[in-house]
Amino acid sequence: MGFLPVLAPVLRTLAAALLLLLVRPGLFAQTLREAAERRNFLVGAAHNGSFSDSTYLETMAREYNQVEPENATKFQPLRPSREQFNFSVPDQIIANAAQRGQLVRGHTFIWHQAVPNWLANGTFTPAQLSDILREHILTVGARYRGKIYAWDVVNEAFNDNGTLRSTLWYDQPGIGRQGTGYIEQAFRWAREADPKALLFYNDYSAEGVNVKSDAILGMARDFRARGVPIDGIGLQAHWGLSNQGSIASLDNNIRRITDLGLQVHITELDVRVPVNAAGVASAADLAAQATLYRSVADTCLKYPLCTSIQTWGYTDKYSWIPGFYPGFGAALPMDAAFQPKPAYTAMRDALLAAPPVDRPALPAPIELPVIAARGLVSAASYQGSAVAPGEIVVLFGATQGPASLLTALVTGNRLPTDLGRARLFFDNVPAPLLYGVKGQVSAIVPFAVATRQQTVVQYEYEGIRSLPVTLPVVEAKPGLFTWDASGKGPVASLTASYVPITREAPIDKGDVALMFLTGAGQTGPVGVDGQIVSSTPLPVPNGIVTATVGGIAAEVLYAGGAAGLVNGGIQVNLRIPSNVGSGEQPVVISVGGVASPAGPTIPVR
Ligand code: XIL
Repeated sequence: MGFLPVLAPVLRTLAAALLLLLVRPGLFAQTLREAAERRNFLVGAAHNGSFSDSTYLETMAREYNQVEPENATKFQPLRPSREQFNFSVPDQIIANAAQRGQLVRGHTFIWHQAVPNWLANGTFTPAQLSDILREHILTVGARYRGKIYAWDVVNEAFNDNGTLRSTLWYDQPGIGRQGTGYIEQAFRWAREADPKALLFYNDYSAEGVNVKSDAILGMARDFRARGVPIDGIGLQAHWGLSNQGSIASLDNNIRRITDLGLQVHITELDVRVPVNAAGVASAADLAAQATLYRSVADTCLKYPLCTSIQTWGYTDKYSWIPGFYPGFGAALPMDAAFQPKPAYTAMRDALLAAPPVDRPALPAPIELPVIAARGLVSAASYQGSAVAPGEIVVLFGATQGPASLLTALVTGNRLPTDLGRARLFFDNVPAPLLYGVKGQVSAIVPFAVATRQQTVVQYEYEGIRSLPVTLPVVEAKPGLFTWDASGKGPVASLTASYVPITREAPIDKGDVALMFLTGAGQTGPVGVDGQIVSSTPLPVPNGIVTATVGGIAAEVLYAGGAAGLVNGGIQVNLRIPSNVGSGEQPVVISVGGVASPAGPTIPVR
């Protein structure tokens, strides 16, 4: 008694103080990514495409707001032959990055080390090589417009003594330009391919002030003076403890580059240390490594236009160092088990302690297409809010899609699931598509939703998926197709001799009318997504089909698939009751007790 009431206010104050501490921005930032974002800063890692390693992917998404394909966007892996582009790895890296709100750097259009054999061994004239390079930059740059925000346009074009390196693109035989002319041309093509991407020149051993970085800066100054599009310089920074660059020299170099108005990205930082046969480094070396990481980060973070630090990988599990520098390794911020090393902490401490300089805003993230649940409706009745298996639907309002209308071509008796790089997924199953244009895509709900209570819908354009929307699944949601495709007025119907039934040509009482609906749900045999019906047994809805015309029960002679109709489309043959009135009569079809909405009619005489 007395004890608790006295203590309670103290505890309350403590709790409040703790809460205040917790909500103070950044103080408890746990990840590199969080620490970087507070400073409008990019912290990146090269991505080696290990898509099956979920720890690798998750850790990278948690810790980095930028990724860069380590190899997949180099000429050689991207172009195994002149005709063939290998986009799958970069596409997947970009798709993952888009979902995680990460930015993607591209590396690189021109690099003497990534020349495929067909190019190296070919006997191309400079004019032909120029055409190949132009085609390459325009194709790749345009494909990733709005997705890759910055490109290393040219990589390692200078020798350490500041002269231009002899390469296929420069003088062996080159693309027909003098001096840095071929580099200039590559930058111009890159700008043409994606006017918004930031364009970088990238090199190694040019982190500090030396003859090589002098030459690079000279080129950049010339480019700026003549309006050649260049936005920044990438400093690779593959360092070791015994051959580390001088931090003072790095500082001076960053200053003179950014004084030109160019950005600096540290692009490939790693610090290799001696390792034993098991790949283990000494604690002292790891501490020295951390100090170096800290110094590089501190130096970059001083400059508003030094906007990104990227390491060449991030886990010692995947690093190019052991393969290229035998006896060395452990070069990255995390160990092979994804545990942070002192270098990780050093980088994070640098980010947390960074001076609040006036850095440019972060580049815009990759835009996801946006869809709304209410945009997905029956293609017949325009009713939404739920879907039925096999229902032909239209998705209205997606913010991205093909620029002009694309209509599906049936191949092998199946509708495609991709139209102009637009796809629609239900629980990750791609739906057959009928047509698509930005803002309007028609699809058929996969029959697999029949086993589910709800379905997760995602729209994808150019490899980037929208956020999911969830819709309930109903057994049936019948909707009749009408002639003017409005869901109201005369139904799209034919007489038994296939004469269209219209206001001008009504049907006689007692005659049979053929009409079409969707949303009848699962069938027997089970519906096959996108398949055009061509053989018996015809798919027939599991639910019992009944009909009324003018409110009077009408005999249903047949309800099911028909040759030439896609699975999900249902033909209903019904007899117009002889006691119905004349004129336009409402038609209602029910499947398993669910009635089609009011609106459709049939003109009767
Ligand atoms: C390296 C990759 O890490 C290796 O996997 C590949 O075998 C060779 O290229 N400078 C660069 C990078 O600009 O592209 C290089 O990447 C490392 C040196």
